[in-house]
Amino acid sequence: MKNMPVNSEELTHSTKKFPINFKELEQIISKYPTPFYIYDEKAIRENIRRLYKAFSWNTGFREYFAVKSAPNPFILNAFKEEHCGVDCASLTELILADSCGFSGDDIMFTSNVTTKEEFMKAKSLDAIINLDDYSHIDYLQNCAGIPELVCLRLNPDCTITYQDNIILDYKNYKFGFTEDAFIEGIKLLKTKGARRFGLHCQFGSHRREAEYFGDNARLVFKKAVEISTLAGITLEFINLAGGIGIPYKEDSPADIEAISWHIKAAYDEVLGTAGLTSLPLYLELGIFMTGPYGYFVSSVLHVKETVKTFLGLDASTNCFMSPLRYSNYYHITAAGKEKEEPNQVYDITGALCENRDKFAIDYHLPRMKPGDVLIFHDAGAYTYAHSHNFNGKLRPAELLLCTDGSVKQIRRAESTADYFATLDYPIKSR
Ligand SMILES: Cc1ncc(COP(=O)(O)O)c(C=O)c1O
Repeated sequence: MKNMPVNSEELTHSTKKFPINFKELEQIISKYPTPFYIYDEKAIRENIRRLYKAFSWNTGFREYFAVKSAPNPFILNAFKEEHCGVDCASLTELILADSCGFSGDDIMFTSNVTTKEEFMKAKSLDAIINLDDYSHIDYLQNCAGIPELVCLRLNPDCTITYQDNIILDYKNYKFGFTEDAFIEGIKLLKTKGARRFGLHCQFGSHRREAEYFGDNARLVFKKAVEISTLAGITLEFINLAGGIGIPYKEDSPADIEAISWHIKAAYDEVLGTAGLTSLPLYLELGIFMTGPYGYFVSSVLHVKETVKTFLGLDASTNCFMSPLRYSNYYHITAAGKEKEEPNQVYDITGALCENRDKFAIDYHLPRMKPGDVLIFHDAGAYTYAHSHNFNGKLRPAELLLCTDGSVKQIRRAESTADYFATLDYPIKSR
């Protein structure tokens, strides 16, 4: 069935590693019971530095970390200290960014179907407002006023293909201005006081091939030159947004140096020829920045033998939504049993009243018993962020493995009181 988790038969040898040993993990669990997420701060910071180094050819290059992928202030603070900005898409993400001390052009507000409150908050923070539609210009003016610097999101109105596969069909795309509307939008914004402009266009979508990014950056750069000529402006920056993927199954991470090199070739060819040799590029990467550096840790609660052998965990997929969303495979390590033969086959399930509540199907692991611990790799983005409360199940804690090796809780697990907090009804305590 499409989107159901797949089994582990194809991946017998993986180089995926957990950053601490079993003894250390046991100590952490004795203080912070499973289930929890744990993020490797050192690895996140090293990855940010690698990204900046890869793009050091572009003066003014900046990563605006996509808050939606891992919305925790402790993680955002690491990005801040590494000179990144943040890409926010909602009022709560703006409040989070504000709380971490991001302001002004540290914040890219890339929203759509935006409310008055959101525009007002973004404007009060002096964030770069990235408009999604022509009709939003008057709306923004009426609720918050038009800033001097405005970014516009482009829908290039084409189909992005790679090796004969359709990757992105902008003809069905809800985001952004078409090219004509973009040009008219700039003209209108100018009459309302805007003087500086940026262009945003996302073409990435879980891709890792360097040529893909080079080819599509070339397309965006050509559009950017065309638009600036027709609208009579000089762009301040181009934001290529997110979309660099991570390998959940294979061991072939995106080669960020090669991606940057291919984007540079397109930049030199198109923007260089148009005389735009010092135009800063921005990215809004999410999954590439934290995905591989976060882990979900859960313990076996029950082993059930019926039509198959089921490992029932102390967590359900409500706290790990991604198995049904971004990847149908997560590499799983049986903690402390790394050297044992994975000669047992399990369906790994949660407790939801829903047969699709499976972390993995027919997954090969060493023999497991209640109390054993499983580590899910590549869980650092769009995992906690997508968690929910179906069946009244609660969200887990988040921990940070700090750069100095210490571990701290950066979000406690939800309690039943949290779950009932929004009900206007007298709920009995447990
Ligand atoms: C506007 C925008 N920017 C950035 C991102 C981050 O994308 P990714 O995590 O794939 O890099 C997204 C993803 O939904 C997005 O919609």
